[in-house]
Amino acid sequence: MLSFILTLMKKLWGGRFTEKTEKVVESFTSSLAFDVRLWKYDIEGSVAHVKMLGKQKIIPQKDAVLILRGLEEIREDIQAGKFRFHDSLEDVHMNIEHALIRKTGPAGGKLHTARSRNDQVALDLRLYLRDEISEVLKLVKKFQKTIVSAAEKHVDTVMPGFTHFQKAQPVLLAHHLLAYFDMLERDRERFGDCLKRVNVLPLGSAALAGTTLPVDRRYVARLLKFPKMSENSMDAVSDRDFAVEFISASAMLMTHLSRFSEEMIIWNNDEFGFVGLPDAFTTGSSIMPQKKNPDVLELTRGKAGRVYGHLMSLLTVMKGLPLAYNRDMQEDKEPVFDTVDTVKACLDVLAEMMPKVRFNRNAMKKSAEGGFLTATDLAEYLVKRGMPFREAHRVTGEVVRYCIDNKKILGDLSAEEFSRFSDLIRGDVAHYLTVKASVEGKTSPGGTSGKTVLARIRQIKGQKAKGKRQEIKGKRREARGEG
Ligand code: ARG
Repeated sequence: MLSFILTLMKKLWGGRFTEKTEKVVESFTSSLAFDVRLWKYDIEGSVAHVKMLGKQKIIPQKDAVLILRGLEEIREDIQAGKFRFHDSLEDVHMNIEHALIRKTGPAGGKLHTARSRNDQVALDLRLYLRDEISEVLKLVKKFQKTIVSAAEKHVDTVMPGFTHFQKAQPVLLAHHLLAYFDMLERDRERFGDCLKRVNVLPLGSAALAGTTLPVDRRYVARLLKFPKMSENSMDAVSDRDFAVEFISASAMLMTHLSRFSEEMIIWNNDEFGFVGLPDAFTTGSSIMPQKKNPDVLELTRGKAGRVYGHLMSLLTVMKGLPLAYNRDMQEDKEPVFDTVDTVKACLDVLAEMMPKVRFNRNAMKKSAEGGFLTATDLAEYLVKRGMPFREAHRVTGEVVRYCIDNKKILGDLSAEEFSRFSDLIRGDVAHYLTVKASVEGKTSPGGTSGKTVLARIRQIKGQKAKGKRQEIKGKRREARGEG
């Protein structure tokens, strides 16, 4: 009993120390302020660990039972907001272990057998990320759904497609929107792929070398639903590439969200007037009464910057570290946590906003019709009549020059005017040069014709239905205990 009290009076690692830790050092080294968010995973990991210790008779079964009960109480206390965390106890792991020892006496002192905070923190972070990645995946899906819905409503809305931010060729709004669907689809793939490498059990690696105690790692992996366990104890405690990968996938996602936001900002600008943003998703100016600002979109665009920053900071933290664990790695958490928060917040607000965005068909149509967006169609018309493309390109260029000089657009030219440029141009040419015909003609796979776009929407919805069916099947299998 006396030695148990001594354990509690000092820091849990205080045995070899003769001096007390300086206050400034305590606050400098403490990670509690941020790693407290791992508490649930810390307990989950400890529960699995202690079950294994008991099963393997590394600790007496009765102590394992006491510890399990203690952990359960701590879980309830934290949930109820009754748990007191102490900054002087360094981090969430020490806080929970300390409370357990206070509750259960010497039995609690056996929880950390065959474990180190090094494999413990790696485990907690993996459990946390595993959960958060599935949240992010759900949110990406939710946003994608809003995109598909908007696309479905606009399979006949034409707009100018741009290159170099200059009007280039007419496209369907649905096609433009679905480009983002595909980007987000790849984002989901990236997160899903990253999940495979997150989903590896590091526990049982102990400090760095493994342990002399007869642990059953496979059992722990099964309890915590890890399909794999780490193969090398030194790698397991010192690797954070799974976290880097998560931030990297997030950075890519933020690039997509940022580009989407940028386009919405431009389209919402008076000069474009392609979209009207919902009032509830814009803010006013404190000085200019007429303003309605797209702040949600601007912030999303801006927040891409901080996620890129987190990626760079974690890479930099890791790049010079000798094996195995180094305290530098405590700096992994804030970038990861803030990335999770940022990505989820952006996806959430965009998914809420998207169904309320008003797309202005007329403004888009007018903008697509104004210039020479179907010039390429004229060139392709000539190609179909046997002219080499380079020549067709030159002839079309001459037609455009003529229009500019005479303040006309392609649609204004008479059959006679066209025929001056090439005798391959027939009277029917004007028919091919309307915005509608231009779009409808783009039936190449992946092109913007209504037919291709509708087929793509059908394909997406079919995949979704198939995914849903598989999800239900999986759940049934799990319920039958075949998971
Ligand atoms: N708070 C620490 C971290 O986040 C936990 C691991 C500490 N390990 C140690 N050997 N000091 O990395």
